[in-house]
Amino acid sequence: MKRLRGGEDAFGETEAVPTPPVIGEAAADGRHHGVHPSGKALISWRDEFQVGVRSIDDQHQHLVRLVNQIHNALQAECSPQDLEAAFGSLARYTSSHFQHEEDLYKGRHYSGAEDHSREHGDLLHLLGAYQQSMGHNDESRIRSLLPRLHDWLLDHIKGHDMVLGAYLNSIGIS
Ligand SMILES: [Fe+2]
Ligand SMILES: [Fe+2]
Repeated sequence: MKRLRGGEDAFGETEAVPTPPVIGEAAADGRHHGVHPSGKALISWRDEFQVGVRSIDDQHQHLVRLVNQIHNALQAECSPQDLEAAFGSLARYTSSHFQHEEDLYKGRHYSGAEDHSREHGDLLHLLGAYQQSMGHNDESRIRSLLPRLHDWLLDHIKGHDMVLGAYLNSIGIS
């Protein structure tokens, strides 16, 4: 069976999710994902987070960078505008990433599809709560939500996305 790369369909077309630059990111040497030069990362990327599908793993690493960027913005007491920009990047990229995963399992008889899509919907709901906090300039609420976002992201990657990755590998998508 032809091995397909994640994001590539049977016709060889790709649906790349563009990776926007991260403000203040250190050199991309693969060892310091999400570490702001002046701060400590909230999440350090580890090999155990890899699900085995290249496009998904690349996007997860970028999601980790974006969560760390919000953490760094809070640590550095950035302006509300910078915080809002960091949050906006995360919300947009998360939505694109979820769509990418859903496109990969749609129509491929993945038994976990319904649960997986529901989980994605839950996080988009949580991100909506962040957005409301932004609108009210409620930094304390944003601070309290960040650990939930952190836990949700890592639990989802190590749980649902890992199962999805194994399934996609089993049908020749890596
Ligand atoms: Fe997912
Ligand atoms: Fe994911």
